Amino acid sequence: MIVSLVVFIFICESISSSKVWTLSVPCCNMSDHVPQILYPCNNTVEALVGSKLEITCRVWAELHPTVEILVYWLANQSYIEDYSKSTRVTEVRTERREKKSSYIEVQLSFSEVKIKDFEINFLCVVLSDEIDQESFVFIRPAVSSVASDFVVALFVLISIILVSTCVYKFVKSKHPLNYAILK
Ligand SMILES: *[C@@H]1O[C@H](CO)[C@@H](O)[C@H](O)[C@H]1NC(C)=O
Ligand SMILES: *[C@@H]1O[C@H](CO)[C@@H](O)[C@H](O)[C@H]1NC(C)=O
Repeated sequence: MIVSLVVFIFICESISSSKVWTLSVPCCNMSDHVPQILYPCNNTVEALVGSKLEITCRVWAELHPTVEILVYWLANQSYIEDYSKSTRVTEVRTERREKKSSYIEVQLSFSEVKIKDFEINFLCVVLSDEIDQESFVFIRPAVSSVASDFVVALFVLISIILVSTCVYKFVKSKHPLNYAILK
């Protein structure tokens, strides 16, 4: 019962929000000891108007306490605060240290994608004493194909049937006496 509810909620969540997985293939070789932008890769991501979206600028770097590495996003050459003027688009920076390498990640989160986002060049900038690198990403409207919509609809339908079957069984098992009396 709880499992099917969780599945149902998960499906609803995945319909309403599209998440961009950025940990896949990096676009640069980690050759030198200078910071490298691993993502974005001057590419495009797809999103639906009104959906949530997260794009992470991922930078490989050797973190030294004395060297400051700035990582930030620009929207058509404007700072994100100036572009969004609200909390619709926000930036969150995290640093992850692993054994041999460290990553700086700045996540650009859209609480709701708007049509105007499709015309903007979102640029991730990395600045330090050593380097000045940038890499952009464009958001493009997602074309939801009829086939994928059908699969989603089927999934939702199956979940609803599953949930109602469970609810029915649950209710039935709670009131076995009523059924006995009705017979
Ligand atoms: C942002 O820049 C792109 C070209 O890079 C341009 O087509 C678009 O109109 C610009 N959008 C705004 C809101 O200035
Ligand atoms: C991406 O575009 C920027 C210019 O906006 C350029 O400096 C950079 O080298 C490009 N990166 C890749 C991986 O092509």
